Amino acid sequence: MCGIVGYTGPRVATEVILSSLKKLEYRGYDSAGVAIVGEELQLHKDKGEIAVMESTLPSFEGGVGIGHTRWATCGRPSKPNAHPFTDCQGRLALVHNGIIENYAEIRRELLAEGHRFTSETDTEVLVHLVERNFEGDLRQALVKSLAVVKGTYAVVLVEKGARHIVAARKENPLVVGLGVGENFLASDVTALLDYTNKVLYIMDDEVVEMTPEKVTIYDPSGRPVQRRPEVISWSAEEAQKGGFEHFMLKEIFEQPEAIRNTLRSNLEILENGGLLGNAEASSVKIVACGTSYHAAMIGKYVIEKVAKVPVAVELASEYRYGTGAKEHPLVVLISQSGETADTLAAAREARRRGCRTLAITNVVGSTLTREVEEVFYTRAGPEIGVAATKTFITQLVGLYLIAMRLAQARKAMSVDELRTMRAQMQQLPQVVRKVLDGSSKVEEAADMLADARDVFFLGRNLNFPTMLEGALKLKEISYIHAEGYAAGELKHGPLALLDSRTPTVAACPKDHTYDKMLANVAEVQARESPVLAIGFEGDRDLAQVASRVILVPEVPPMFSPFPITVVLQLLSYYAAKRRGCSIDKPKNLAKSVTVE
Ligand code: M6R
Repeated sequence: MCGIVGYTGPRVATEVILSSLKKLEYRGYDSAGVAIVGEELQLHKDKGEIAVMESTLPSFEGGVGIGHTRWATCGRPSKPNAHPFTDCQGRLALVHNGIIENYAEIRRELLAEGHRFTSETDTEVLVHLVERNFEGDLRQALVKSLAVVKGTYAVVLVEKGARHIVAARKENPLVVGLGVGENFLASDVTALLDYTNKVLYIMDDEVVEMTPEKVTIYDPSGRPVQRRPEVISWSAEEAQKGGFEHFMLKEIFEQPEAIRNTLRSNLEILENGGLLGNAEASSVKIVACGTSYHAAMIGKYVIEKVAKVPVAVELASEYRYGTGAKEHPLVVLISQSGETADTLAAAREARRRGCRTLAITNVVGSTLTREVEEVFYTRAGPEIGVAATKTFITQLVGLYLIAMRLAQARKAMSVDELRTMRAQMQQLPQVVRKVLDGSSKVEEAADMLADARDVFFLGRNLNFPTMLEGALKLKEISYIHAEGYAAGELKHGPLALLDSRTPTVAACPKDHTYDKMLANVAEVQARESPVLAIGFEGDRDLAQVASRVILVPEVPPMFSPFPITVVLQLLSYYAAKRRGCSIDKPKNLAKSVTVE
C-alpha cells in the first residue's frame, strides 16, 4: 500500500519527509521519491528501498515538500513509475494513492493536447489534468480535475515557489498533523507521531489546503469545514496497526476494501476481453501452495459450474512429477507473493509443456509475473501477517471473475446471467462487512476451540476447501491440530477420533448440501463432539442439532465461501489470541516461501 507524506514549515523538508516515509515502510513498497519546493521543484526518486533513494539524494533546500512510497499497482516497480510526478512545465509535483480507473481515456486526451508522459502509471494523468486546469488557484484546479476522474485517491500537490500543500481524499486515508508554525500530512498517523499528536482526519470527497500557519478543510461543495483536532495517544507500533491489536486482525477487517479494489480494477478488463483473449481452453489446471491451493480448489468448483470447463487442481510442489500427458492447455498459477519457489518452478514447467500460463498474484513485478504470459492482479494491498487472509479472499474474487470470463468466451452463460453474477459479486464487500460487524459473537464462540488439542472442520462441495483453509488458519496461528474434511468422508475413518474434547466446526449454508450437512452434524454430536455450525441468517434448524451456531448473511450458494471464510479467520484469530500466540509471526513459518 503506498504511503504519502507532506510538510510545510521552518524545518528542512527533506529531513521531515524521509523520517516520516521510513515510519510508513511497514505498509510495503517498491520505490520511493520526494519533491521539495524551491525556486524550482527539486525531484528525486528511485526503485527499491528508501535508503537507496536517500543514498543519492542531493541536499535539497526548502521547507515545503511531499514524499511517497509506492506499492506498484498500475505499471511495474521502476524509477520512472515512482512518485512524485511533475507536469510538463515542471511547475507542479504530485503524489497519489489509489486507482484512477479511467486513466487510459484521460491519457489519450492529454496526449492529443500535447502533454508529455514519462511513466506507465495511472497517477501521472492527474498532474497533467491539474496542469490543464491551473489558472493560478491550485485548489480549484485540483477540484476541477478530480471531477472528471473515476476511481479512488489520496492525492497531494505542491507548486513551485509556493508554501502551500493541497490535497484531496476519496476512499484512501489522509490525515493532517497540526504543529506550531508548521503542518504535516500523511497516509497514517504513524508518520506524524515524532512531530505531533494533534491530527485532523480528512474525509471522503474533502479537499484540504495547508500552509505553515493554517489548515483549511473544504467539503465537496467548497465550503470550509470546522473540525476539532483529535489527540492521538497511540504508540508508533499501535498506530501502524491502525488501532488493531495485530496486523492479521487489521487485514481481516480490510477485506471489504480489498474485494472492492480487486473488482474495480479487473471487472472491465475481463469483460472487455482484456485477459484470456480467445479464451477457449478445453480444460484448465490450477497450481498453487498452501492457502492459495485452497483458493484453487474453490476455483475449480466455480469455473466448472459457471464456465462448464473441466478443471484439475494440483499442488505446485507435486506438479513437476507429472508426466505432462494430456496436459491442460491453460495453467493458472496462484501465489499471493509471486515468489513461492514451488509455484515458480511449476510455471516454468507448464511453459516447457507448451501450456498457456496465467498468474493470479498480489505483487506487481514479482518473479511469477515474469514467468507467465498473462497476469491477474489481486488488489489486496500488502499483507504483513504471515497468515494469508485478505489475499485469499481476493484470490477467490479473481477466480470467480476468470470463471465469468471463460463463461463469456465459451457462451456458457447468457448476458443476463453474467450481469446477475456481476451484481452478486458487487454485493460481496457489504456481505463481508456484515460478518465483521458480528465479530464479537465469533470471539465468544472461539472459546469452544481455544483449549482443544484437535479440531475438525467439515464442509461439502465448494465449502470443503473453505474448511480446509479454516483448518490451516487455526493450526498455523494457534498451534492447535486441525483437520479439514469433506463431511461425507467422516464415516470413513475420522469418526473414530471424535469425543467430547474434540470440537467440530461445520459449514452449513442453505444449499443443496444442507440436509446432508445437518445429518453429519447430528452424527458428530452423537459422538459428543461439540459442534460449532456456521449457517445463513434465518436458519432456525441448525440450533436444534449444533452446540453453537454462527449465522452469516444469506448469499447465493456459490458465494458462501466468502462469509464463511471470514468467520473462520476470526475464529482462528481469537482462539490464537486466547492462547497468547505470536499471531503475526507464527513459529517456523515465513511470509514468502522461497525454497523448494
Ligand atoms: O505467496 P503464496 O500464495 O505462493 O504462498 C503460498 C503459501 O505459502 C501460503 O499461502 C501459506 O500457506 C499462507 N501464508 C498460510 O496462511
